[in-house]
Amino acid sequence: MASSDCWRGKWALVTGASSGIGSALTEELAAGGAHLVLTARRRQRLTHLRKRLRTAHAVQVEVVAADLDQPDAPEKIFAFTSERGIIVDLLVNNAGVGSYGEFCASDLPRELGIVQVNCSAVVHLTHLYLPGMVERRSGDILIVASTGAYQGVPYMATYAASKAFDLLFAEALAEEVKRYGVRVCALCPGPTVSEFQKVAGVPEQMAAGMEERADQVARIGLRALAAGEHSVISGFTNWLGVEVQRIAPRRFVTYAAERLFRPPQRG
Ligand SMILES: NC(=O)c1ccc[n+]([C@@H]2O[C@H](COP(=O)([O-])OP(=O)(O)OC[C@H]3O[C@@H](n4cnc5c(N)ncnc54)[C@H](OP(=O)(O)O)[C@@H]3O)[C@@H](O)[C@H]2O)c1
Repeated sequence: MASSDCWRGKWALVTGASSGIGSALTEELAAGGAHLVLTARRRQRLTHLRKRLRTAHAVQVEVVAADLDQPDAPEKIFAFTSERGIIVDLLVNNAGVGSYGEFCASDLPRELGIVQVNCSAVVHLTHLYLPGMVERRSGDILIVASTGAYQGVPYMATYAASKAFDLLFAEALAEEVKRYGVRVCALCPGPTVSEFQKVAGVPEQMAAGMEERADQVARIGLRALAAGEHSVISGFTNWLGVEVQRIAPRRFVTYAAERLFRPPQRG
């Protein structure tokens, strides 16, 4: 049995379903027989995906377009599922954004948007859906963090810090709610083929040749969640990178990250 089969006949809500890892997660879940609530800002993408998933897998699919940069978006998504009597058994907090460049020259609303989408919306959605799971003594939450969560990343400072937040939030919750039969897991991908780098403005050559496919990452995340893991790093090379740097002084790790991520024009 594939791990995604554990949600057969149940409802999964996936944020950031319009692209990349989120889209791959919906494909994997639908193939395993889960019904889906898809959310992101680009409604047209979601309606196309709905059509494809319904046709290919004969599952129920609902679409709710929402901008998680808006603080009231999680309430709107929650109202959407409540009004339809949808019990969300799996919440996937996947939507995320980043930025690249020197922080002092960055656009403040964009940096604050990273915190809103990657952290506040994750806390808010989790706070809305978790009580029902605890009450039912069953439910799962997957939070997409990053290998960027394991160290400060110069030139992506806000993003990496937001992902450290996601990782620690997920690990703490996982321990807190396991007694209620609720599983929480942080999925930490390394560079992955998606729209992320382009949207964040990361130079293409920085991740070239190191990227995993989104469907590989999605499968690893769902498998780890189903197995009761509290966090998982996607891919052996990414795992090794994180493990090796544990023995190095933190200051050195950040120094090395600065060299790796330094914008080409800074020399
Ligand atoms: N790709 C990588 O290298 C990588 C590595 C580590 C971790 N991650 C994490 O993986 C997750 C998924 O990213 P991805 O790689 O699949 O990137 P992606 O292809 O850019 O997808 C990002 C998703 O988030 C949604 N989103 C962005 N801003 C939003 C907003 N304000 N409101 C609602 N939805 C929003 C986007 O949908 P709309 O634009 O339609 O709203 C899109 O569906 C993110 O949390 C990211 O931090 C990615």
